[in-house]
Amino acid sequence: MRTASARRYLMCPPAHFAVTYSINPWMDPAKPVDLQLALAQWEDLVARQRSLGHTVELLEPDPALPDMVFAANGALVVDGRVLGARFAYPQRSGEATAQRRWFRAHGFTDYHLPEHVNEGEGDFAVTRSWILAGRGFRSSPESHAEAQEYLGRPVIGLDLVDPRFYHLDTALCVLDDSTDTDVMYYPAAFSPGSRDVLARLFPDAVLAAEEDALALGLNAVSDGRHVLLPQGAAGLAAPLRARGFEPIPMDLTELLKGGGSVKCCTLELRD
Ligand code: ARG
Repeated sequence: MRTASARRYLMCPPAHFAVTYSINPWMDPAKPVDLQLALAQWEDLVARQRSLGHTVELLEPDPALPDMVFAANGALVVDGRVLGARFAYPQRSGEATAQRRWFRAHGFTDYHLPEHVNEGEGDFAVTRSWILAGRGFRSSPESHAEAQEYLGRPVIGLDLVDPRFYHLDTALCVLDDSTDTDVMYYPAAFSPGSRDVLARLFPDAVLAAEEDALALGLNAVSDGRHVLLPQGAAGLAAPLRARGFEPIPMDLTELLKGGGSVKCCTLELRD
């Protein structure tokens, strides 16, 4: 039996969500988005987190920033210290500023304005002792050193090689951050060397099959016990249960059109 711990998250309603440009293979501006449905699905996610006892803080959506619902990309917060984001594409750069404003207004005095491109929790995942960091599509390798220096935790760089899994959080999920052992990931999203690193660090990991990875099943959020994940990733339920986790499928099909799901919408405030 696993133990949940109370979390605090920052989320942004998809009030202005749209796919008007394409910066990842999931985004097709020709495919219509049902905004009302996107909002309802996102509200469900918030309600579910709150019903599990977690706190959800809200970020004010900006009509000029259609990807702002993917709040996880705007920062990385560890021990109350905020590493700001610097987005790879200009379409999203305003999101870093909006989040910076939020952190300033909410008592986070320790904020680092980054020099190198990093997309926050999109490419950084936190275990008990380490920070796992993706590179190859968005966050730069230099941002890993910058994160390590600012946060004082060892950062382990991992090379992403498949454009469909352009952020680390589309390919790997930390299931229990009170350990350095419990993660799930999709091996083929990583370079051979990074796959060896992951196998060495996490010999007992849940390995996702391609179809579950393609349903963005790794884009999940865990409180140490409950794992909220896209409902399409049905194959992950059994291995998660076998390890004592409780999978909770969420319907976020509209947000999938932007290339994101549960985790992308959820920035954890580790303060
Ligand atoms: N449309 C957004 C982008 O391509 C989606 C971001 C999804 N977030 C994530 N953490 N993977 O930047």
